[in-house]
Amino acid sequence: VFLFMAVQAQKPISPNLFGIFFEDINYAADGGLYGELVQNRSFEYTASDHRDWNPLTAWQFTKEGFSYGTISVETSSPVHANNPHYVVLNVEEVGREGVGLNNAGFDGIVIKAGEQYDFSLFAKQLGANAIPVTVQLKSKNGAISNLATINADSKDWKKYTAALTATQSDDSATLVIVAKATGKIALDMISLFPQKTFKNRPNGLRADLARTIADLQPKFMRFPGGCLVHGDGLGNMYQWKNTIGPVEQRIEQRNIWSYHQSVGLGYFEYFQFCEDIGAKPLPVVAAGVSCQNSGGTWRIGGTGQKGLPEDEMKAYIQDILDLIEWANGAPTTTWGAKRAAAGHPEPFHLQYLGIGNEDKITPVFKERFKMIYEVVHAKHPEITIIGTVGPFHSGEDYDLGWNFANEVKVEMVDEHYYEKPEWFVNNLTRYDKYSRAHSKVYVGEYAAHDVKRRNTLRSALSEALYMTSLERNGDVVLFASYAPLLGRRGHTQWNPNLIYYTGTQICPTINYYAQKLFANNEGDIYYSNVISANVADTAKTFSASCVRDSKTGDLILKIVNTDSIGIPAKINLAKLGTFNTNAVVTVLSGDPAAENSFENTQNITPQTSNLTVNKSFTYQAPASSLTVIRIHTR
Ligand code: AHR
Repeated sequence: VFLFMAVQAQKPISPNLFGIFFEDINYAADGGLYGELVQNRSFEYTASDHRDWNPLTAWQFTKEGFSYGTISVETSSPVHANNPHYVVLNVEEVGREGVGLNNAGFDGIVIKAGEQYDFSLFAKQLGANAIPVTVQLKSKNGAISNLATINADSKDWKKYTAALTATQSDDSATLVIVAKATGKIALDMISLFPQKTFKNRPNGLRADLARTIADLQPKFMRFPGGCLVHGDGLGNMYQWKNTIGPVEQRIEQRNIWSYHQSVGLGYFEYFQFCEDIGAKPLPVVAAGVSCQNSGGTWRIGGTGQKGLPEDEMKAYIQDILDLIEWANGAPTTTWGAKRAAAGHPEPFHLQYLGIGNEDKITPVFKERFKMIYEVVHAKHPEITIIGTVGPFHSGEDYDLGWNFANEVKVEMVDEHYYEKPEWFVNNLTRYDKYSRAHSKVYVGEYAAHDVKRRNTLRSALSEALYMTSLERNGDVVLFASYAPLLGRRGHTQWNPNLIYYTGTQICPTINYYAQKLFANNEGDIYYSNVISANVADTAKTFSASCVRDSKTGDLILKIVNTDSIGIPAKINLAKLGTFNTNAVVTVLSGDPAAENSFENTQNITPQTSNLTVNKSFTYQAPASSLTVIRIHTR
């Protein structure tokens, strides 16, 4: 007797499919996620960051009320050799107001009544008199915090701190520092943080923005770029070692996106944030070449040198090995000790490492990639290395990338595409055709670029259609991340982005909500043929997926309908065991041309309600919609 039990066709898929890609672009770090409220706190801005900038950018020198004095930028005997510039206030006449400095942060400092702000600076007395310094927050109408006095009496650099409590809220406050006696005083690293950072971390992150990112429940975070990683010349490559340790000792640098990186948000902070939000860290290092192996020839100062000289590669590869030791090594190891000294004796559990970003697959690149890959893979087989197929996602150059990946047998490759919504709709079967014998895929950067690069519902739904195809191919596509993640209004070099913000507001786009619905509802088992609709495949207006999250046992259905009319979707759960018929349904829908904006941040958001489901039922997928149905089985 044969006992026949009907089983739904199924396959295991990546449980970490949807994550985030953080690049320091659009003021994503300084003026964005990094909680520092003072702009150019270390006087390290230069004209190479931005043609109009200099060490005093964002600072205002004040000498009001019959006070006299001068300010100068000096470099001899700085706080640390890595942080060469500082200012000297030379007070000749104190007058009524004193001589000082103001900083209005990034478009004005945002202050909330009753909250505490942690001020700090490094100071050194240069004359015979010890000059006290006062610190206060001011609105355009006057003081809005207590006045703190710092008795900076040391003749050597010393850090001083003060607490400022706001008496009023203000969206465009200024930090005012005043020297109150005649003489000379040197100042550097003038810093102000809200006491309430994300998870209350010192040197922490802006809480509301970090929370918005955490709400995505990303399974991994790729950082710190993008093009930022390889830079636009060998001297502009991101060097992780420059970004750890005391902030006053880190090496700041020009941002490829034409601003500055204070690197106050450095590798320690990135890894800690990953841990805080439950995302696997995925740092990316340059493959020993800068942007498109160009050597930055298009910019002044570009050397034209295409890749690191061979005799520098050994040290460069050692830096990458040191990164793995820093992240995962015991506190008794050289680099693990540095992580422990920063307050994290436990390892960060690094599992993935990206090498290269959109690099042209030239002999210069290949040679350097292989050198790095072979050493890192041999010494750390436990780390999954993610290579790149270059800047293209089709054509001969793209084939070059894949041929190289196959030759090296790299575990995973990073593919990028920024395309019109139609491209996503027309490429729903892209990964159905991928060989399962070759490298796995990380879709490291993608976004649908609608007309005028707007974050429309239409763009979000074309991405959602595509994401159902990523789930269907979750056995070969292991990671995917929308790009870029962040954009500060008024400071974007790139659109569209997933989350926009000002100092006071956060505006998650509709694309953000589509990402959130997928990332909050991931599964690790994919079932085929559960959902169908009477729509011609050629119409490409309908796509759906069904996954199970084995941790909770929940069945999760995702249904995308981009048509202008509702579509009945037939759902057959008969072969999926028992389940609770009271399901939760969440729908993102509306006018395909609609967007969220700072004026109406909630224009289109997911709406949740209850739905009774059965072994076989029909769900009417609304016009222009993404629906997620979550069904409990336990
Ligand atoms: O996401 C913006 C940029 O797009 C990234 O830096 C780069 O990798 C891609 O070209």
